[in-house]
Amino acid sequence: MTNSQWTAVDDYFTDTIAPADEVLTAVLDASRDAGLPEIAVAPHQGKLLHLLATMQGAQNILEVGTLGGYSTVWLARALPPTGRLVTLEYDPAHADVARANLARAGLDKLVEVRTGAALDSLPQLEAEGAGPFDLVFIDADKANNRLYVEWALKLSRPGTVIIVDNVVREGRVATAHPDDPAITGTRDMFDLIGREPRLDATALQTVGTKGWDGLLFARVVD
Ligand code: SAH
Ligand code: DHB
Ligand code: MG
Repeated sequence: MTNSQWTAVDDYFTDTIAPADEVLTAVLDASRDAGLPEIAVAPHQGKLLHLLATMQGAQNILEVGTLGGYSTVWLARALPPTGRLVTLEYDPAHADVARANLARAGLDKLVEVRTGAALDSLPQLEAEGAGPFDLVFIDADKANNRLYVEWALKLSRPGTVIIVDNVVREGRVATAHPDDPAITGTRDMFDLIGREPRLDATALQTVGTKGWDGLLFARVVD
């Protein structure tokens, strides 16, 4: 099978069961127009985040890595009117685009985009008593993946769901790459989760529009 066939299947899934609407299209258009990198989750992956947040009955969601707010919209649409989503973004230009996108989506009452390095914002959230979060989506600088999972655990409760994007990276995760901090950070994260009795986890590889990559799913045990 070739990547064009894999992409055709992604497009088929998206067209049939996860179609774009005006808001999602506008988010991607505005992000592209602002010069943001085109690395948001694929539409059917956004739909997966939305379904998991809905199944979880999530009221309080944390996202690490906002970009233009595309995954944020999918997640925030699972919230009840009393829900809350905090999303952490290092780049002020990305955060500005995301805020405008979320306002256009009518989600700005539910979502706070917090600018700064996530490793600075996470202790602030703890100090504010912002947790526990029902669902955490980690999709920022991969070098800090182990630290982000540790913070997710700190801000969790039994039953919290933790999802991590980009855990395969063209298969590179399977072997040590000491020169690549993104792979090292992700492998350290797998080691941590494997020996952390408070986490139950699995991971899935993906092909298609986002290339050969994958997602990790964890749940804080009861
Ligand atoms: N979740 C988004 C994509 C995020 S891309 C979506 O699917 O739509 C990764 C984002 O993480 C980028 O916007 C990048 O600026 C941000 N980022 C990188 N390092 C970060 C850090 N240390 N703290 C917070 N955000 C960071
Ligand atoms: C990159 C980051 C992502 O979060 C992603 O989903 C794909 C690519 C990147 O930094 O290249
Ligand atoms: Mg990603």
